[in-house]
Amino acid sequence: MIEAKGVTFKYDSVTALNDVSLRIERGLKYALLGANGAGKTTFLLHLNGILRPLSGKILLDGVEIIYERKALSNLRRRVGVVFQDPEVQLFSATVAEDVSFGPMNLGLSPEEVKKRVDDSLNACGIYELKERPTHFLSHGQKKLAAIAGVIAMEPQVLVLDEPIAGLDHVHREQVIDIFSRLNGSGVTLIMSTHDIDLAYEWADRVIVMKDGAVAGIGTPIEIFSDEQLLKSSFLYKPIVLEIYERLIRRGVLKEDGIVPRFRDELLRCLE
Ligand SMILES: Nc1ncnc2c1ncn2[C@@H]1O[C@H](COP(=O)(O)OP(=O)(O)OP(=O)(O)O)[C@@H](O)[C@H]1O
Ligand SMILES: [Mg+2]
Repeated sequence: MIEAKGVTFKYDSVTALNDVSLRIERGLKYALLGANGAGKTTFLLHLNGILRPLSGKILLDGVEIIYERKALSNLRRRVGVVFQDPEVQLFSATVAEDVSFGPMNLGLSPEEVKKRVDDSLNACGIYELKERPTHFLSHGQKKLAAIAGVIAMEPQVLVLDEPIAGLDHVHREQVIDIFSRLNGSGVTLIMSTHDIDLAYEWADRVIVMKDGAVAGIGTPIEIFSDEQLLKSSFLYKPIVLEIYERLIRRGVLKEDGIVPRFRDELLRCLE
């Protein structure tokens, strides 16, 4: 669906992406991992044309991105980005105005806009903040409002830059749940995160970045079984996998080809 071919990007003299090539398949959930400064945000901002490669290219459904106004606005209808910093995303006076801005620009009827705004706010658990000024929200509330704004656009691809960082447990579960539901209806998801355990249980594929390059891409089990990759990319093993591997090594469990990904699956192995 989305393909990066040899993408290199620099901020002045800092090389942030160095010859990144990878393919995002339609309908899958991707977790993007990597240490601070690895290039995750820079890569994600290329996916809807906010940043433009210095060399190399980004293709959407086989067609190269065109960096001109109309084409970019079409691209952004299809690929929605939730920024790492919600301050960058929110610009209207109130939450309702902010969330309705995108749908209104799609030329939808006022009823449809209202429905999308209400549905998105409900989905994010912040309906009661509807009339609140955006600049008085807490950081977590700003993040939820930013997510609601992008969801209201109903994009085909949802690019999420650390969307759950700073959210409380309840909102975190709620937001993950929305992402899973959207994925169930066909939306492709790419989420950067520092939450290794979540990436392990949630993602269909994991991409690991290091020093502006792709250090690894594969299924969660492939990636998290690669000790070398984990070490060199400053990642650690998800707790469920770590415990499972130790139990196998100690002969408590026998390998049967199915590696648990969820806490409950691991507990079931022990019954
Ligand atoms: N606006 C900028 N100007 C100059 N250098 C930048 C800018 N933004 C990022 N960089 C540099 O580009 C590199 C990649 O940064 P990027 O923000 O993409 O990393 P990241 O993987 O998203 O990190 P984090 O986990 O901290 O969000 C880093 O070396 C960073 O210092
Ligand atoms: Mg980042």
